[in-house]
Amino acid sequence: MTTPRNDTEELVQIRRELHEHPELGLEEVWTSDYVAEKLTALGYEVTRGLGKTGVVATLKSGNGGKSIGIRADFDALPIHEETGKPYASKIPGNMHACGHDGHTTMLLGAARSIAERRNFDGTVHLIFQPAEENFGGARLMMEDGLFERFPCDAVFGLHNEPLLPFGQFALRDGPIMAAVDEARIVVRGVGGHGAHPEDTVDPVVAASSIVLALQSIVSRNISAQDPSVITIGAIHGGSASNVIPETVELTIGIRSFDPDIRDQLEQRIREVAEFQAKSYGAVAEIEYERSYPPTVNHTAETDYVRKLATGFAGAENVVDLDRPFMGSEDFSYFLEKVPGTYFFLGARSGPEDKALHHPGYDFNDDLLPIGAAFWTELVESYLPAN
Ligand code: NI
Repeated sequence: MTTPRNDTEELVQIRRELHEHPELGLEEVWTSDYVAEKLTALGYEVTRGLGKTGVVATLKSGNGGKSIGIRADFDALPIHEETGKPYASKIPGNMHACGHDGHTTMLLGAARSIAERRNFDGTVHLIFQPAEENFGGARLMMEDGLFERFPCDAVFGLHNEPLLPFGQFALRDGPIMAAVDEARIVVRGVGGHGAHPEDTVDPVVAASSIVLALQSIVSRNISAQDPSVITIGAIHGGSASNVIPETVELTIGIRSFDPDIRDQLEQRIREVAEFQAKSYGAVAEIEYERSYPPTVNHTAETDYVRKLATGFAGAENVVDLDRPFMGSEDFSYFLEKVPGTYFFLGARSGPEDKALHHPGYDFNDDLLPIGAAFWTELVESYLPAN
């Protein structure tokens, strides 16, 4: 029995409707209603409110005890859209610039064919997740009992990637995305007149020294074999050329894979900031927040997707990534608890394509029937009907 392709026109219409209504993390009220309504109409048992706006749609068939979870994220970004498309964002300042509108549509498409065909034996949980971009909606859904209330033998998730060839499945056993942490450092000095620095403790000079010293951590303390990144993404302080400010604030993004390296980065950032500041007579107040863990795929589930994708798209359209990405993803929380795998689906349409998070990015609608059909096939093969 082959998987029927979805009604592409309907999927495109859904995707563009979602695209017009981009909502930021934990504010996806319209989106959550929209998704829940469609799933209810398809006959799913719909549970709402996990992670505030998250939706879980459950469908059982036969007597099988196995279960599968498939996740789509549905939040947008605080970006002002510049695609000029007729279905561009109707919410100024918000935009589906990461294709989560497409991920959600593909899973809705799969929801329809899975329900209509009923060609499986077991339990399907379709997980529509909020706040991937900021608040870790995956973790919030888990804190609301996601896997206790909806036990899954395995979980699967994908992300479109306009840098990869169209229709290509890019997989990786083990780490595929980095851990990300954030540090906020307030360098506190003593402000005063710009003409009399000797009467002040200049936090601008101290902060500048911290910025440069932080560059030595990855290059001098961490092995070249262990990928890690420290980016000072923001530096704010002062207001005029003749005023030495009281404080300067640094915001730092930290990425890594290995848990020991992650600890070491935190320790060194604290030490460097504290002692650099001290050497100028200033004080560094450090807030350090652990965010998403690394996304580490499980071998058996990755092998499963590789085999299925090879049959689905041909061996020439399935690749194993030789290295992970330094970006991050909160699907990592799921994979800490449940076996599964996260992979990329190539979305490239041509040289005009914009990268994810670019104000000119748009999800490639040609992927919709492919994603929907693949998820359907995954469910039907993972939970085979007798
Ligand atoms: Ni994304």
